[in-house]
Amino acid sequence: MENMQIAVIVGSLRKDSFNRQLANAIVKMAPANVSFKLIDIGGLPLYNQDDDEHQSDPVKKMKADIHQCDGVLFITPEYNRSIPGVLKNALDHGSRPYGQNAWAKKPAAIIGISPSPVGTALAQQHLRGVLAALDMPTLCQPEMFLQMKEGFFDETGAIGEASRKFIKGWLDRFFTWVSTNKGI
Ligand code: FNR
Repeated sequence: MENMQIAVIVGSLRKDSFNRQLANAIVKMAPANVSFKLIDIGGLPLYNQDDDEHQSDPVKKMKADIHQCDGVLFITPEYNRSIPGVLKNALDHGSRPYGQNAWAKKPAAIIGISPSPVGTALAQQHLRGVLAALDMPTLCQPEMFLQMKEGFFDETGAIGEASRKFIKGWLDRFFTWVSTNKGI
């Protein structure tokens, strides 16, 4: 498969975030043809439509990074049965000004981890609706609802043995999705 760059957006700003740990573990699993770019959304201002014609530097930087990537991987917790506000804030910034939606046409996928058995399923479902509005073709299956448990990460921070094969298979499916859908 050809070389590709994937933007990774984590929906938690928490220092010890499980979702950030998941992102870091996934970055380490990249095959030789894939490079992951972690996008910082914590430094973005609160979205205000008045700023559309003079977006701040962090917003411009995020949009430039997204433009350079072939696909986007969202790794997010669930907050109150939906997506965290910081993630929605980043999505809104990237979508504007009208007609300059940086997300458009970028193939995407969603995963998330939660201490609860719900495994971020409801947040993922809400995010799918937003990504559809942003014109992002989003991998439907297999879905990945992960529960944070003892041993999910090993002592090195990698995905523990029980889940490693499943996650690797899912990632291969996502890379194929990006390769098939980019530029369409
Ligand atoms: C949560 N949490 C949570 N978990 C869940 O499975 N469903 C939910 O609706 C919520 N709601 C929720 C709201 C808010 C404001 C917070 C702070 C937390 C718990 C959440 O899954 C847990 O804190 C995770 O550890 C958050 O992800 P990170 O920061 O570890 O990546």
